[in-house]
Amino acid sequence: MDTTPFTNSQIVAAFEERTKRSKARHLEARDVFPSGVVHDSRHMFPHPLYVERAEGARKWDADGNEYIDYYGGHGSLLLGHAHPSMVAAVNAQVSLGTHPAACHNLELEWGQLVKLLIPSADRVRFTSSGTEANLMAIRLARAFTGKNKLVRFRNHFHGWQDHVAFGSKFAGTENVPGIIAGIIENVIVADAGAPDDVRKVLESDDDIAAVILEPTGASSGQIPVSRDFVKMLRDVTKERGIVLIFDEVVTGFRVSPGGAQAALGLLPDLTALAKILAGGLPAGAICGRRNIMQLLDFEAAEFHGFQKIPHQGTFNANPLSAAAGTALLAQIAEGDITDVANAQGQNLIQAWNQVFADEKVPWAAYGNGSSTYIFTNPDGLDIDPLNFDPLSHPMAVMEKAGGHPAAALFRLALLVNGVDVNSKPGAIVSAVHSDADINETAEATGKALGMLKAEGLI
Ligand SMILES: Cc1ncc(COP(=O)(O)O)c(C=O)c1O
Repeated sequence: MDTTPFTNSQIVAAFEERTKRSKARHLEARDVFPSGVVHDSRHMFPHPLYVERAEGARKWDADGNEYIDYYGGHGSLLLGHAHPSMVAAVNAQVSLGTHPAACHNLELEWGQLVKLLIPSADRVRFTSSGTEANLMAIRLARAFTGKNKLVRFRNHFHGWQDHVAFGSKFAGTENVPGIIAGIIENVIVADAGAPDDVRKVLESDDDIAAVILEPTGASSGQIPVSRDFVKMLRDVTKERGIVLIFDEVVTGFRVSPGGAQAALGLLPDLTALAKILAGGLPAGAICGRRNIMQLLDFEAAEFHGFQKIPHQGTFNANPLSAAAGTALLAQIAEGDITDVANAQGQNLIQAWNQVFADEKVPWAAYGNGSSTYIFTNPDGLDIDPLNFDPLSHPMAVMEKAGGHPAAALFRLALLVNGVDVNSKPGAIVSAVHSDADINETAEATGKALGMLKAEGLI
């Protein structure tokens, strides 16, 4: 990590002063976990936060500091933390047992809700994570088509399994130690910024089993793709018999109750789900066309005479995740919580852009619905925060959205002022973020920008 901007920073000093207990725990943790963390995205300078309690849109760290939380459980929270309906659902189930080693009612209700909400879901299979859901999607596509190659897009994140963990900003390099050459050779990392080249690859290579993408763009829309691009993929994959996989791990139930596919009006063959799916508990799911999903079906395999794909998983549809997931998806189906979160996301974008305009900082907030990002403009482009359209900029520009040298210090300065955004930087908004939370966030942002200005960083 380049820590040059942190040298002698008052922002770092202020953060360290407020978070002494987090620091002490982090130092202990370095003896337990590599880098003292259990997820790469918690790795931060000078040390990560230890959070002890979270409720609604707020969380409190080990030193008692309060934050408005926009990390949103990595996108898994639509009703904030410890929502009474989630607590009640999980409490009701925990005393009935956490693992019956049998089918159970909640898994059926949960699967029925997925079918109800996700337009392309003819059949559903639960997994324990989004990584696993994508892994199964890719295997299904290969088995269904009898072909080998996977096309995916630079910077689109699909978890950490072998097929998808190289050639992205998350991997940091074109290659990752430990991934065998045979896998790398069968994965084409394409550039969504060059649609004609993508089309040519899809039309010229006869060994492509699947195309996978985040349907609103890389990093769940930080580097957006247009609907035209997704439509081109849908059309060409259909013509060529290639399986189109939407990774809706973040966008599912968030962009709209039916995910990005419902919002775009474009249906994939397979969809990977996770995060909101289980209301903040761990789970994933793969769903899609019946004739592909039947590769997991004992009776279909016997009837049609094909070899079934095996699928196990001790915690697939575990009752606690099923309880929270069922309770949340039922509210999404019956109410307007996705719309409320989306509206508050747009309000945050507006509030942020007003601050950038008032402070004369050429940064801009943008996003779709409740997934929001800040374009930190590392190349100093002449932009108007109040009229920023990410799709009007070349993808090469948007790839640098979070690339300002002061972006990491901006995040720390926000923490010092009581706001936790993710490291993109961006904010995941929930239906319980209030107008007061957003006003407070705007105020904190003004102060954070003031701290960056005082250090001559912007
Ligand atoms: C778009 C996308 N796909 C897949 C994953 C992996 O999901 P999980 O962390 O549940 O394995 C993530 C996680 O952040 C994600 O954002």
